[in-house]
Amino acid sequence: PHLLVLHGPNLNLLGTREPKHYGSTTLAEINLALAKRAEAAGVNLESFQSNHEGALIERVHAAGQQGVSYMIVNPAAYTHTSVALRDAIAGTGIPFIEVHLSNVHAREAFRHHSYFSDLAIGVITGLGSEGYLLALEYLLSKVSAE
Ligand code: DQA
Repeated sequence: PHLLVLHGPNLNLLGTREPKHYGSTTLAEINLALAKRAEAAGVNLESFQSNHEGALIERVHAAGQQGVSYMIVNPAAYTHTSVALRDAIAGTGIPFIEVHLSNVHAREAFRHHSYFSDLAIGVITGLGSEGYLLALEYLLSKVSAE
């Protein structure tokens, strides 16, 4: 089984970026925690971050080619704007969990709509960096049941 974690724009700044919304954990720390948990379960996991919509789309296409089983996706600002990234994920048919560090529903109205949520297995929003680990826990239970 093969899991891909996809992080959208500005998430490379985690740790220093608006800590009241996003906490103080860095992206490297999140990715390391995910990699360790997956490794302990004997599951291959890769993380990818980009500030470029096209790079994220091409990583999703590659995931389709690679036969990735599940994804954890934080599309960041593209959540609210990107039909193109949505279509890429829909096109591969890879099941995924949508994760947001902040509770997008407690913030500005433009963050309330997601182009991804109706396609997702489920959505975790507002649980900070723990949200990624909870999403992984769920996917590990799916993988081990297969
Ligand atoms: C985010 C929420 C988005 O609205 C925002 O644009 C982000 C991060 C989150 O993880 O809380 O960049 O996806």
